[in-house]
Amino acid sequence: MDNRLFIDSCFRKPVPRTPVWMMRQAGRYLPEYRAVRARADFLTLCRTPALAAEVTLQPVDILGVDAAIIFSDILVVPEAMGMELVIEEGQGGPRFPHPLRSASDIGRLSIPGAADRLGYVMDAIRTAKRELRGRVPLIGFSGSPWTLAAYMVEGHGSKNFRFPKELICNNPALAHELLEKTARVVARYLAAQIDAGADAVQIFDTWGGLLTPPAFREFSLRYIETIVREIRRPGIPVIVFCKDCAHHLPEIAQTGCDVVGLDWTFGLGEARQLAAGKVALQGNMDPTILYARPERIREEVRSLLAAYGPHPGHIFNLGHGILPDIPVDHARAFIEAVKEESPAFHTPA
Ligand code: CP3
Repeated sequence: MDNRLFIDSCFRKPVPRTPVWMMRQAGRYLPEYRAVRARADFLTLCRTPALAAEVTLQPVDILGVDAAIIFSDILVVPEAMGMELVIEEGQGGPRFPHPLRSASDIGRLSIPGAADRLGYVMDAIRTAKRELRGRVPLIGFSGSPWTLAAYMVEGHGSKNFRFPKELICNNPALAHELLEKTARVVARYLAAQIDAGADAVQIFDTWGGLLTPPAFREFSLRYIETIVREIRRPGIPVIVFCKDCAHHLPEIAQTGCDVVGLDWTFGLGEARQLAAGKVALQGNMDPTILYARPERIREEVRSLLAAYGPHPGHIFNLGHGILPDIPVDHARAFIEAVKEESPAFHTPA
């Protein structure tokens, strides 16, 4: 592989500069993405390997990021387990019109064949790998069991996620049945992505921060840990990103993952202390900083690099996905600032 900065940093090896990529880097802020989306709806894009690979490569070609992430969505997993998924143009976000509300709903989920029905993701990974020609590594991903279950039970994004939270309180055994089934599918799905050529994988626990500390351990972290244990392979880093969960960093680091992703609500210096050399850290610039002028973006990059300090094991990223109305010039200024400012924090090779 030509660019090993990302993989080496995941394993906390010394590098000449800090690698950088952005969550949701293939997306609507790019006119080239919108042009492809004008020809295909979102799920068609996910299911057509040539198109998924094309948009996966766009941020590599346009912005020069140090890693690609396969274009897909976390919600294709519940769909493969038998749930109808609707992603409507422009409004409301994705939804499941028939959310899981009873033991028989959960009993009907299809587990053994689910990962096989996601073969189109593996085809997209193989196509993207071929087209990347070793320029940068390719990241595969999945939602965490808790985050997927939250959508499956609620039916859509929500502020309070009333129904999944009711389920863990009123019927924890049934919640565990759902999480256990989902975890089995996620482990098989991530292993298949690695077999298809993914160089690293990331688990997104977007809704881990909804839970109390004991509930986070019981209903989210425990399943992430099982998955990490099942998918670990030499040389393939596993990244765990739990949003609004930086206070759980030491426990997340104990799952056996190589990298912990952080949102912007926690200091990178403090996080490095908590990580205690056990894991690398990925993050964590506030995504709204990209609305600011390029000089201000550069200042923020410098202050985050200084907060982490002159140590290996940092992958620069935003603290959550890039927003759809960010000017492309600002995204480019961000990537360039990391490339230009970070060598001062590393020893030349
Ligand atoms: O990072 C990448 O570039 C890879 C692609 C990717 C998408 N979704 C594409 C997408 C990834 C890694 C995701 C993950 C995802 N999807 C998460 C976890 C990360 C996070 O952001 O917390 C979640 C919670 C989802 C669920 C989801 N999918 C929502 C809430 C939405 C609607 C909101 C939105 O941004 O529009 C989606 C749709 C979606 N997934 C889009 C993209 C590019 C927009 C759809 C479009 O093009 O019209």
